[in-house]
Amino acid sequence: MNNIVSVKNLSKSFKNNGSTFKAVDNISFDISTGSIAAIIGPNGAGKTTTIKIIGGYLLPTSGEVFIAGDKKSYSSNRQNINVGISLGGENGFYDRSTAYQNLKFFAALKKIPRKDQTAEIDRVLELVNLTNVKNENVYQYSKGMKQRLQIARALLGSPKLLMLDEPTSGLDVESARDLQNNIQKSLSKDRAIILTSHTMSEVERLADQLIVIGSGEVYYNGPTSEFKKFVGVDENLSLEETYLQISDELKRV
Ligand SMILES: Nc1ncnc2c1ncn2[C@@H]1O[C@H](COP(=O)(O)OP(=O)(O)O)[C@@H](O)[C@H]1O
Ligand SMILES: [Mg+2]
Repeated sequence: MNNIVSVKNLSKSFKNNGSTFKAVDNISFDISTGSIAAIIGPNGAGKTTTIKIIGGYLLPTSGEVFIAGDKKSYSSNRQNINVGISLGGENGFYDRSTAYQNLKFFAALKKIPRKDQTAEIDRVLELVNLTNVKNENVYQYSKGMKQRLQIARALLGSPKLLMLDEPTSGLDVESARDLQNNIQKSLSKDRAIILTSHTMSEVERLADQLIVIGSGEVYYNGPTSEFKKFVGVDENLSLEETYLQISDELKRV
């Protein structure tokens, strides 16, 4: 197994009113090809910050990110076509344009050759089941459709690493399940997916690898299936019950 991404001793500090706050504190992990990894932890644990650094949206204070196939570490190589990222929320699209027109714009930004753009856009729209509504304006989209459009945008150009920050947050049960299926469908043997989620049933269902973080530090990094053993609880306990056993420890003091 090869690693798609290696995160080495990553730290990120923010300065607030003269004091320094460590949002991410010396985090390291590897994600191998063909796998889905979930990063979980309480609000403010540092999940989004970690994803933003890997995606090149933020520079780390220290540490490095290596993406397979890249010569340089990521801290010096920000615009990376091998990484697709969806940060959630409903913003970031031209509301008065269609989904297709939006993706056309982002396909150009990702430097997908003009002659390949239409086929590539159709491919990613199909993956997230938006083909039949691709010519509707985005302001007519439901929250779930916008979430799927975000994932479609992240999939443009087939990045080696797909990162989804809380992809199913705020969706109804059926839309969430649909989206989970789409996420699984978009995984292939030579790629990897990192997602964050607060829905433990989703994590249990999707993630091969579990990274639990609290206060910016890694608490657990290993197979999802071995987390219960690590915490020392009964194998019959759900991931949610298991997580609740340790959630207090993960909070910032
Ligand atoms: N740009 C920023 N400036 C200052 N503090 C920030 C900034 N971004 C995030 N933080 C802080 O860093 C911590 C981690 O945030 P975040 O990574 O968003 O957590 P999570 O996604 O796990 O909820 C939080 O305490 C948050 O307030
Ligand atoms: Mg977050």
